[in-house]
Amino acid sequence: MINMIFLGPPGAGKGTQSANIIKDFGVVQISTGDILRAAVNEGTEFGLMAKKYMDEGKLVPDDVIIGIVKDRLMADDCKNGFILDGFPRTIPQAVALDSMVKESLKTEITHIVSLEVPDEDILKRLTGRRTCENCKKGFHIEYAPSKKGDVCDECGGKLVQRDDDKEETIKKRLNVYHEQTSKLKDYYEKSGKLFVVDGTGTPDDIYNNIKEILS
Ligand code: AP5
Repeated sequence: MINMIFLGPPGAGKGTQSANIIKDFGVVQISTGDILRAAVNEGTEFGLMAKKYMDEGKLVPDDVIIGIVKDRLMADDCKNGFILDGFPRTIPQAVALDSMVKESLKTEITHIVSLEVPDEDILKRLTGRRTCENCKKGFHIEYAPSKKGDVCDECGGKLVQRDDDKEETIKKRLNVYHEQTSKLKDYYEKSGKLFVVDGTGTPDDIYNNIKEILS
């Protein structure tokens, strides 16, 4: 079984690669960013609170996000394996995850994959990212364009840019990553389950490396 943590800076390709892993390994993806964006779109009080942090490129407070992930991990569909995409992002989140996995789920994390991409590439990836408003498929205006121009080539939905994919906000998100989230590599180093993957090749080459690690 695969219970994986996906680490890596914003725009490293965690969402892109998670889509491949889901298809081949039958696990579910738990993206805290997607959960937060759904709450923002629903316009709930919680969503409005989260939006303030996200638009400023800051992290949503640990206690809020830990509660969300705990509830999600208890759902039945996680019993066949999961990918945590975007969680943990701080040491307190990682400590909380350890206890959730051991005490509540009675299982273990099997792989921690850190996708490494330099900051200059991240800026190009995120300013060019577009997402289908309807089916959420991801695109890039240059590296992975839709075959149908400015609409989704799967469902015809409108392609939109994320509010936090503005250059200024991307730079703030990268700072948060370097100051807080990158420390998680040290945290997981001793586990013997940390795999560092070069995230700068083509999506297919990167996926082949990940697949080898997971197989
Ligand atoms: P979140 O949604 O998790 O964003 P992120 O970590 O910043 O990651 P992204 O979704 O931006 O990137 P990705 O790695 O999935 O890249 P993708 O595959 O799309 O978080 C957003 C916000 O929510 C946070 O800032 C925070 O406020 C809050 N939040 C979330 N989790 C939290 C937590 N745990 N604690 C507190 N706050 C939290 O790829 C990017 C682009 O590059 C795409 O266009 C893609 O087509 C392209 N691309 C992908 N691979 C390649 C390649 N190999 N070559 C060229 N282009 C490529």
